[in-house]
Amino acid sequence: MCGIVGYTGPQSAFTPIVEGLRRLEYRGYDSAGIALGTGTSLFVEKRAGKLANLEGALPANLPTVHSGIGHTRWATHGGPTDRNAHPHLDNEGKLAVIHNGIIENYSELKAELEKRGHKFESETDTESVAHLLSELRKEHGGDLTAAMRAAVRRLRGSFTLLAIHADAPQTIVGVRRNSPLVAGLGKGENFLASDVAAFIDYTKRAVELGQDEVVTISPEGIAICDLDGKALPLKEYEITWDAAAAQKGGFAHFMLKEIFDQPKAIADTLIGRLSDNDQVLLDELHMSDDEIKKIKRISVIACGTAYHAGMVAKYAIEKWAKVPVDVEIASEYRYRDPIVDKDSLVIAISQSGETMDLLMAVRHAKAAGARVLAVCNTNSSTIPRESDAVLYTHAGPEIAVASTKAFLTQIVAVYLIGLKLGQVRGTLTDAQVKSLYNEMLELPGQVEQILETIEPLRELTRKFVKNNTVLFLGRGIEYPVALEGALKLKELAYIHAEGFAGGELKHGPIALIEEGTAVIAILPTKDEHALDEKMLSNIQEVKARGARVVVIAPEGAEVIGAEHIIRIPVASPLFQPVLATVPLQVFAYEIAVARGTDVDQPRNLAKSVTVE
Ligand code: G6P
Repeated sequence: MCGIVGYTGPQSAFTPIVEGLRRLEYRGYDSAGIALGTGTSLFVEKRAGKLANLEGALPANLPTVHSGIGHTRWATHGGPTDRNAHPHLDNEGKLAVIHNGIIENYSELKAELEKRGHKFESETDTESVAHLLSELRKEHGGDLTAAMRAAVRRLRGSFTLLAIHADAPQTIVGVRRNSPLVAGLGKGENFLASDVAAFIDYTKRAVELGQDEVVTISPEGIAICDLDGKALPLKEYEITWDAAAAQKGGFAHFMLKEIFDQPKAIADTLIGRLSDNDQVLLDELHMSDDEIKKIKRISVIACGTAYHAGMVAKYAIEKWAKVPVDVEIASEYRYRDPIVDKDSLVIAISQSGETMDLLMAVRHAKAAGARVLAVCNTNSSTIPRESDAVLYTHAGPEIAVASTKAFLTQIVAVYLIGLKLGQVRGTLTDAQVKSLYNEMLELPGQVEQILETIEPLRELTRKFVKNNTVLFLGRGIEYPVALEGALKLKELAYIHAEGFAGGELKHGPIALIEEGTAVIAILPTKDEHALDEKMLSNIQEVKARGARVVVIAPEGAEVIGAEHIIRIPVASPLFQPVLATVPLQVFAYEIAVARGTDVDQPRNLAKSVTVE
């Protein structure tokens, strides 16, 4: 993963680079470093740990310079030390490289370069690129762009690379393969970054970069070429959100702010999706009614929280559209010969649109002839670009590493897909679609209601701060919600947390229960299967063995055996996950705060995982 920034222009480069890195810290925060072009040499500083460590190490009399590159790292090759931090330099100390991804053939390259006299300082795969580029630049008469084109031909793996050379520091050269990079087009200044968040304060004009495209920025402009040197047109787009959307807005953490963003995020994702004559409007699917009717199976693929959204999707799509849906962790998908062909619709869910495991699964599905629909929150990211169609969620920028608002918008987005498929395939009448859609329009207000009572919920949560195991129980569509509740707690508070289907409890997990074990149970809305009654029995089973039980229950539902009850508004069974998730997010958040962990940037994690 890692976050990458490059700046060239009239400003003192330090501010846009360091502020850009601050916005990209969600991508990794094991170490940070910068290389600034002073005109004659490079000023390089790098430090293990968060960006603050780097800032603390910088001299007060930092030279005023007008170009440079910066990096925030999530370690893959080589531990998170000062020495392994990026940038990496050639032996003359004149060429600096930063990298996101993995150079798979680095040891081969390193051996070759060492034979030719290059001395390596770090244990990283990246350093081999600095030495290689340095050689190639000389071979190409000092042309860094030509050197980058030649270097990329030698590299295997996934990477975004940026390079700067002391002799022409106003020029920064970048390239991407299976890893994100976007250019920002300013007035007399230009930017490169892993994500538009890094330069949104300076420009809203962004330029897309394709696979194996080499980009060169200088204050005068942006030039893109392919590996043969053929100039390519700039694919410019406007960034639709503003810098304020990526600020904490008075909240203690991004995560809390994002929990509070949820009503708006859901509303924005749902808005305008039903026509006056009750037809679901999802033109983004780019599928004719005929094609929709021909779908024989749906596979949903995703990672982490998005995978849980996929599990929720299965319940809704199967119920409404009567198509078999399987849900799979993306990292497993392509390694087991999945049954996928031209009659399959593959739905790839991703907040970032850059997750490498998912990207690889998408490519596998496409190669097998399936139609791939991305559900994504990040405009122009790689997964939507490589998919046949994309339905964007409108959660706005999600900065906290643990996903919240993206999850709820993913659920409503897949619900819209389910409604559309059901309507076209004739398994839902227009009247049913209208009534379900109208019920979904209630969700933002209902989430709002839960958030209005957040204070007592936070107080209640603090009673569980010392519990080292928390188990989550769900049944039916609440089972993935239980998994998500457990994942949030693991990610944020580093507590042993597991989610179980209530019915499975007796087949093993119940052995975990002892005096004082915390159990959070989600009571499903009453339905034809009377799952609520079955969950009430599960609650009795764990209570009888000493568990302290918290129950999330719809208003008015009878609950027996709970030490505490958290009430949520009543929604029909398929919509309850959107509501039941919110208290679980708050629970994890509050425990993390009380235990003093780093809520927005939990240890060992990164928001966007661009390695397999
Ligand atoms: C990382 C994040 C998770 C996220 C997962 C999938 O592991 O830490 O919070 O759910 O990636 O990310 P995506 O961007 O594909 O939704």
